[in-house]
Amino acid sequence: MSRKKLIAGNWKMNLCAKKAEDFANEMKGTVNTDAVDVVFCVPYVHLSAMKGIFAGTKIGVGAQNMHYAASGAYTGEISGEMLASMDIPYVIIGHSERREYFKESDTEVNLKALAALEAGLTPIICIGETSKQRKSGRTFNVIRKQLAFAIDEMSADDMAKIVIAYEPIWAIGTGDVATKEQAEEVCALIREEVKAGHGQAAAEKIRILYGGSVAPENAKELFSMPNIDGGLVGGASLKASFEKVVHFE
Ligand code: 13P
Repeated sequence: MSRKKLIAGNWKMNLCAKKAEDFANEMKGTVNTDAVDVVFCVPYVHLSAMKGIFAGTKIGVGAQNMHYAASGAYTGEISGEMLASMDIPYVIIGHSERREYFKESDTEVNLKALAALEAGLTPIICIGETSKQRKSGRTFNVIRKQLAFAIDEMSADDMAKIVIAYEPIWAIGTGDVATKEQAEEVCALIREEVKAGHGQAAAEKIRILYGGSVAPENAKELFSMPNIDGGLVGGASLKASFEKVVHFE
């Protein structure tokens, strides 16, 4: 079966209101394709404005994080239920920057991913090894462990509703993109693990993205690999040339 590719921009903590609106209006004029799904994961404060600007286009809007509780006394947090109530379909979960700077644990990532599913959202769950782990030959073990935690208590049916983003930490924001072989090898491992746990059909349905210094120059070779179903794109999603990443073919 063929999986529709997903190209998700992660704006991280960038762009103030006016710049975000100007950039979104520019993207609205250049990003136009049915061949892939396109989504911008934007800061919470821009969700509403971006929904408005992208209404009627083929560009979707997502969030970059959420809390695992549906509501309650968690000052400063946002729940999956709140995102769902705004018709926000996607949410990034467990980005390495959240794991590093906000000490998000594997357990928390799992709780958030389960809560996202519960709210009817598609979690884009990030996993990836550090440079040190890769150099010491531990990449596969790290990925297996992070994945097992992230999808714990999910069903085979859930595999079609989640997205896994393989983001090697050494490739994020460094320009040091993984080779297509390195990226493919880990994405293939992730699919094998899903197959082992949930069967062939689930493994064929799950979308697995690569992220880390994706740019117009490397998008085509990465996205042409059999187990890479698109990308999670940081810096390049803030530039006009993001249109070239989307229309990579
Ligand atoms: P860069 O594309 O800037 O390397 O960032 C990748 C990333 O972290 C996307 O979530």
